[in-house]
Amino acid sequence: MDTVVFIHGFPFDGSMWGPQLGALPGGWRGLAPDLRGFGAAPLSPVDGEVPSGTDLGRGVARADEPVLSMELLADDVAVLIERDAGGPAVVCGLSMGGYVALSLWRRHPELVRALVLADTRAEGDTDQGVENRRRMAQTARESGMAPIARAMVPTLLSTGTVEARPEVADHVERMIVGTPPLTVIAALAGMADRRDASGDLATLDVPVLVLVGEADGITPPEVARSLADRLPHGRLVVIPGAGHVSNLENPAAFSAALTGFLATL
Ligand code: MLT
Repeated sequence: MDTVVFIHGFPFDGSMWGPQLGALPGGWRGLAPDLRGFGAAPLSPVDGEVPSGTDLGRGVARADEPVLSMELLADDVAVLIERDAGGPAVVCGLSMGGYVALSLWRRHPELVRALVLADTRAEGDTDQGVENRRRMAQTARESGMAPIARAMVPTLLSTGTVEARPEVADHVERMIVGTPPLTVIAALAGMADRRDASGDLATLDVPVLVLVGEADGITPPEVARSLADRLPHGRLVVIPGAGHVSNLENPAAFSAALTGFLATL
């Protein structure tokens, strides 16, 4: 069996990949883990393994709060591939999952057979982006996840999804509200700290499929196009009728693009 490892976005969990797990072509199986701290996964299975401190995370986390770096999350995925995939895997990451996938490529290229980068970008955060993360971390600290979910859902999903597919909005809201505030703060700090992966793109000598929702307002189609254009073997597919969570908003188109890509490997 060949394996696709699906890496979820922020602040979601592995359940976001349900439609894709159910639509993989014959001969392929999928693994969709909860990244540490998300879904059912504990933040730190080993005491002290997750570092803390404001000198990491560009001041998004406080000195006593954890920081989930993209490198740490990528190393967790590497352990999973080594243990369960039986060889290099196709790695499919959406948004934060894409940051983790790019970090996995840099740290463990021998485990990556091909990449699917969905609704994501190679660049690091701008100063304004970091400031927004500081504000979200403060809201998580003071008020928990409900106000964050209320603010995020309309920016994540296309208006068409919100109006016509309330079950998708409910699923996204449930994942956000179910994420512990400490995980949210830790991941915000890790994303704020992530390196700019632009310089790695030319080294990506495996096939890469870039996907983006046509109405993605967070990583818009022009960001995806610029990403695909800088890859030696990049191919772009725009998912119609979808915003930032393109795999849930138009699962049929997302899975069709994925299946077509897997057939080329
Ligand atoms: C995501 O969906 O994972 C987030 O938009 C990533 C981010 O906040 O940069």
